[in-house]
Amino acid sequence: MARKPLMAGNWKMNKTIGEAVVLAQDISNQYDDRWDACDVVVCPPFVDLKPAKTVFEFDRVPVGVGAQNVYWEEKGAFTGEISVPMLKEIGCEWCIIGHSERRGYFGETNEDVNKKAKALLSAGIHPIICVGESLAVRDAGDALEFVCAQVRAAFAGIDAAQANECVVAYEPIWAIGTGRTATPEQAQEVCSAIRATLSELYGAEVSDAIRVLYGGSMNPGNVEMLIAQPDIDGGLIGGAALEASSFVQLIKACI
Ligand code: PGA
Repeated sequence: MARKPLMAGNWKMNKTIGEAVVLAQDISNQYDDRWDACDVVVCPPFVDLKPAKTVFEFDRVPVGVGAQNVYWEEKGAFTGEISVPMLKEIGCEWCIIGHSERRGYFGETNEDVNKKAKALLSAGIHPIICVGESLAVRDAGDALEFVCAQVRAAFAGIDAAQANECVVAYEPIWAIGTGRTATPEQAQEVCSAIRATLSELYGAEVSDAIRVLYGGSMNPGNVEMLIAQPDIDGGLIGGAALEASSFVQLIKACI
């Protein structure tokens, strides 16, 4: 089945409000209606979400905004956290959860990712669920098993209709920010195993509809080969999303 590609920029902890507005405006200025063949999303830091959203709304360009994290409780004494209703009010339609940097530096567990996914789904925000193995796991030959277990844990208790609203991003940790991209074959092997796991959980119709992205040093030089793979439906882009010119090249490769 034909899945609409998705290109999502993960700005990580980059761009002040002023810088974010400039980048959003640069992206917006290059929009043309062929982009409608691809869902385009930027995920800036929390403080930049509203300013970026305002740029895209003002220019009437269909670029969505997403957060990079969320907390599952609705409100209360959780100092430093941001809730789903807060994201909803900004007009956030997407949220990255379970990024390896959050898992690695901030101790986010599979259970946390599952709670975050459920909280987002209850508000109609699409979770972009990140999974991926370390180099040690890959070298031990356990990459497929490890990643598929992360997928099962993230989707625990989520029904088929809700699963349809999710995106999975396969990001091998050894490829993130390192310039060392997975080969198209390595990426396809894992993305196909992710889809097979989704098919076990929800059946072929649902698993065929869920988008699986690749992330990890995706750039204008390697995008074509990666997205040509049958189970790769777009990218979650870090470094190459911080400049409009390279991000737009990645979008164009998908249309
Ligand atoms: P990268 O980051 O493109 O800079 O490797 C991707 C990500 O971490 O989402």
